[in-house]
Order: sequence, then C-alpha cells, then structure tokens
Amino acid sequence: SAVTRRDLLIGSAALAGASGLTALAAHRVFAAVDDKLSISRLTHEIVKGKPTVEMMSFAADGPPPVIRMRQGERFAIEVANRLGEDTTVHWHGLRIDNAMDGVPYLTQAPIRDGTSFRYSFTPPDAGTFWYHPHCNTLEQMARGMTGMLVVEDAEDPGFDSDLPLNIRDFRIGSEGQFLEFYKARNTARGGTLGTVNTVNWQIDPVYNVEAGTLVRLRMAVTDLTRIGQYSVKGGEARLIALDSHGLPAPVAPERIEMAPGQRADIALRVPDHEGEEVELILERPTTPVRLARFRATGASARRQLAELKPLAPNPVAEPDLANAELQEYVFGWSPGGDAPANPICGSLGYLFWSINRIAWQGDFPDPLAPLGVMKQGRSYILRLRNETPYDHPIHLHGLTFRLLRSNKREIAPLWTDTALLRAEETMEVGLVADNPGDWAFHCHVIEHQKTGLAGFLRVD
Ligand code: C2O
Ligand code: CU
Ligand code: CU
Repeated sequence: SAVTRRDLLIGSAALAGASGLTALAAHRVFAAVDDKLSISRLTHEIVKGKPTVEMMSFAADGPPPVIRMRQGERFAIEVANRLGEDTTVHWHGLRIDNAMDGVPYLTQAPIRDGTSFRYSFTPPDAGTFWYHPHCNTLEQMARGMTGMLVVEDAEDPGFDSDLPLNIRDFRIGSEGQFLEFYKARNTARGGTLGTVNTVNWQIDPVYNVEAGTLVRLRMAVTDLTRIGQYSVKGGEARLIALDSHGLPAPVAPERIEMAPGQRADIALRVPDHEGEEVELILERPTTPVRLARFRATGASARRQLAELKPLAPNPVAEPDLANAELQEYVFGWSPGGDAPANPICGSLGYLFWSINRIAWQGDFPDPLAPLGVMKQGRSYILRLRNETPYDHPIHLHGLTFRLLRSNKREIAPLWTDTALLRAEETMEVGLVADNPGDWAFHCHVIEHQKTGLAGFLRVD
C-alpha cells in the first residue's frame, strides 16, 4: 500500500555531512538575474520520428529551462511573449509579492503577444518548485508550458549534484499529433489523462550519474491530471522533502503519492559499479511504467547518505491554532448556469464544479469577489470539505499551510501549498495569513480548475 503522509514521520536517523554542489549538464539552466524567458511555439519530437507541431515552451527551441535562484536573494527575469496569444507566468509554491504571482486580471494584466513583463522577487523558502502559465492554462500547459524551478538552500546540505525531474504526460497520438486536451465527460469526473509519460520531455531518459555520489532528485508532477504513485528502485535512497519542505526524518521512498502540483525530493546514493542502474517507476495496478533511469559511471566516490546535513526548515510561521479562526470551503458540483459567453483566458465552455456553491466563471469574473477574507498576521484553520466522489489536489497561492487532520485518515502535520483532498474527505489545514493580496485557490486538475473549481482568498 502507499506511503501515507503519516508514515513519513517515522523514519531513519537524521543525515549529516557536507560537500560542494555541481549541476548535471542534463538540461539548460537559467540562473542569473536578468535572464530572459522566451515563450514560443515550436515543433519538437516527444515520440521518436513523430514530431509534434504547435508545442508551447518557455524557450524558443526546446523544453522549458530549469530556473534556479537562491533562497533569500533577489531574482529577476524578463518574460517575452511570442505565443500569439495572452499568457502569464505563475511560480507555483513561492511565497512572493502578490503583484508577481502571475494570475491574469487578479494580480496583473495578461502579457500580450509581442510584449514582455519583468518578474522580480525574493524567494523566502528553499526547495523544489515549478512554474506555469495561468492564462488559457489547460491548453498552454497541455502543449508544454510547465517548467522546473529550484530555490537553492542558503546552506548547502552536501549533495554532489542535483537533478530536476519534470514529470508529466502529453496527450499525443500515434503520429505525434496532439489529441483533444480534454473530454467533457472526463472533465466532469476525474479528468482526462495523457497518453505518453515523460520526464523532462523525454520518454524513459537515461541520466549518467557518477558512481557512489549523492544526487538530489527533485521531482515535480507538472501534469494536468494524473495522481500517481512513484518509486525509486535499485539504489539506496531517502525521501527528504515533500512540496519543498524538508521532512522531520527521511524515509525510504516507496510509493510516494504525488498529485498535480506536488513535489518530492529524494537523496539518492548512486550504486558503486559502472553501469548499475536506479529506476524511477510510476506504479500502476497492472503494468508499472519506468519513467527514467540513473546509470552509474566512473569509479565510485564512496559517499554515504549519512554525510548529508538535514534540510534547514523554511521560515514558515507556525499558526496559533488555539486562537485561529475557522473558515469552511466546500468543493462540490456546479450549481448550474452558463459558462461565460465571452471566454477570457481560455474558459472551456462548461461549468461542472464549484467552491462554496460558486462556479468560477473563467479568469475574469465581474465583479471579482473573494471566497474568503483573512486578516493579515492572523491564524486560520481552513476546513476543506470535498462533497464529490473524486480526488482534488487543492492549491493555494502565496501561502504555505500545515496539514492538521482528516475525517478519513491519519495525516502527518506537513507543510504544503497543494493538499490532495480525497473523495468525500474533509481535511483541516492551518496557516498564518502573513502575505497580503488576492491569492488564487483552486483544484490543480486543470480541467476542474477551468470548469468552476477555482476562486481566490484575500489577505488584507
Ligand atoms: Cu500551480 Cu494556480 O497554480
Ligand atoms: Cu500556485
Ligand atoms: Cu479537482
């Protein structure tokens, strides 16, 4: 059975040690202040020999670059839109200024085609994050616009290298062509799954890693729909962080559940012998899928997992639960009514879902009314009640919350920005409303988000 978030508390001893950090030359990396993202359409081969046309990326000629920044240091990037339509960039999980959050009409005007926008912020937390558009979100993400974002720890925990793994599916047919991005009958249920499993836009890639070294696998599920269970097999490994936040104690990475938007970091000790392989597996009831391989090269460096330092906790304020105010949010069916006649930013033309009986009318409802208001600096308990028989990864922008309890299962008190709310589950989470602004609040199954299961919370 799956690792529950409770099992994660019960783990092996803390890790200790240190060394330098070297980036694997596996993909292009952006790091410096004042780099530029060029949002473009391109043709690219996901399936060998069957080029997919009309893909979309944060680069003109390949997969979205890994964006790197350092905890507590100012970062800036110029985003040029060459897509032929509006877009924005959202930095999933970062607790930054509301004006930099990338939600069209709510926090900024859309970036028009042919124009650019400069994002600039200081990430307070270290960890594995990702970025994606928030305008015509279903189509732009389905065509490729999901990228990895790494905030490097202020204090190096001692890995030899670091490998971001952008895990997602594409809906591609046998000729390499995009299939329809959703089927309405699925949208009204669990969502429409992709057909091809990829890591960093590749099917079953092999990464050469130096034998006996310590590699940090930074996994993010940037898929639009899939809630999956993932295993790392064949090497010594420890799950060290979930959703950017270090675990109290590392555990064996068996069947890590990740929903769209969620992340997991693994400390991998590469096997000693040249050619030995470690596998990343997507577990499935019948046939597991191998997603990627990590192959040992060279002579063993003979490092040990015990040499790693534990991850420093991120500076998230602890909610004062005794004095917290309770707010309830109910995730249910749409009360009916028409989808917006004038779809802006890619409404799908259906309304299937709601939060507190309100179905979000696309990205530009008029008037813009928050689902709830929190006072800056106060503590809150959000009771998230799922009335539907489907799972929903519920994501809140700009704030990090602590999982408190569920009516269905034991849960570990982990920090997150994306909580998987199971069918008919009620979960309570706690937070300090310490980041002012209007923060999008939605299901990260993008079809659900785009057919009503969205809204925003205001901190003022
Ligand atoms: Cu990844 Cu509005 O979120
Ligand atoms: Cu987000
Ligand atoms: Cu959902």
